Amino acid sequence: MTYSKNIIDNIFGGIRPTSRALGKAATTIQGWYDSGTIPQKHWADIINAAKSFDHTLNSEDFFPKQLSRLESFGYPFNKLHCLSIDDFNRPDIETLLSLGAHYLDLNIQKNPNNRVLKGKTLINLFFENSTRTEKSFELAGKRLGADVISMQIANSSVNKGETLMDTAVTLNAMNPDIIIVRHSASGAPALLSQKVSCSVINAGDGIHEHPTQALLDALTIKSAFKKISGLRVAICGDILHSRVARSNVKLLNMLGAEVRLIGPKTLLPSEAETWGVNIFNNMKDGLEDCDIIMMLRLQIERMSDALIPSKREYFHFYGLDKEKIAYTKRRTLVMHPGPMNRGVEISSEIADDEKISLIKKQVETGVAMRMGILHALSNSQDSIK
Ligand code: NCD
Repeated sequence: MTYSKNIIDNIFGGIRPTSRALGKAATTIQGWYDSGTIPQKHWADIINAAKSFDHTLNSEDFFPKQLSRLESFGYPFNKLHCLSIDDFNRPDIETLLSLGAHYLDLNIQKNPNNRVLKGKTLINLFFENSTRTEKSFELAGKRLGADVISMQIANSSVNKGETLMDTAVTLNAMNPDIIIVRHSASGAPALLSQKVSCSVINAGDGIHEHPTQALLDALTIKSAFKKISGLRVAICGDILHSRVARSNVKLLNMLGAEVRLIGPKTLLPSEAETWGVNIFNNMKDGLEDCDIIMMLRLQIERMSDALIPSKREYFHFYGLDKEKIAYTKRRTLVMHPGPMNRGVEISSEIADDEKISLIKKQVETGVAMRMGILHALSNSQDSIK
């Protein structure tokens, strides 16, 4: 049982009595109940109100320390890998997002006693460069008490396929519990998962998928808008080379958002027509009435031909600036998975404006979401054993 359910059910006697005791809307209490967490600003009021119910609470009761390895959120999550959004059904995703929300709260609280992954070993295996993803997995693992090893092999000159399998055999012999892999070849993590006896997380494979980025993006959107269903989300720019876009399209569609893709024809894959999205080639039409604009990096390193005339011209037509954001005609929030090319796909004026930019929030949410994913996979391993 999560700590919020425990407080709501066992101290106040349910959602309505809690709502009466605190003088807060039942929907707010329901939110705490469902997410498993209660924001810190309400703790003092709850501690006070609990006294008239003959209960002495203290701030320790608001740390989700009771969330042991085998507890989850009511649904039996039993997936061993995180390779693609296709691996998960709706209840899986809801469980992962709830766990992510739970750790978002915990991150802010920084509970040093969290030992959910104690005794587990994580290996970060990054064949491509990474700042955010690798470091956030490292931090997520450490915050849950795991041993984390990070192998930096981005610049290896050895043939990638061979290196991956050789490395897999070597690593498997070290008996890790979870391997987090990033590779330039689409499908590499899936192949690896067949060769090792531990869980595998895809941290980005070629232009295929980046499921943990989509999950952290969904959690960021949910935290900002309190919902995802019904929102209109525009994903803009270099869709062709973006694994982030592919995972996001799948996840946002599953969660009931309306997804639009905006970009020049040369940067839109022809199969995008089958993705259940609306496609636009100009920002003015595409951005209208969007709640979220997700900008993508121009991935020059993956382009073999010249797909854009020049970076300057690209910014002129597709770079997000104050003028183009006005096309939305409503309050819109902006996201970017990073790393950003300032002045190419996004202006600094937009990226650094905390009133509209969720970019820093995405990084913060990334650690929490990855804690949730690690927790869920480790939970499955333990329940299958
Ligand atoms: C993305 C990636 O590597 O796919 N970055 C990330 O994980 N935050 C996007 C990119 O490289 O542009």
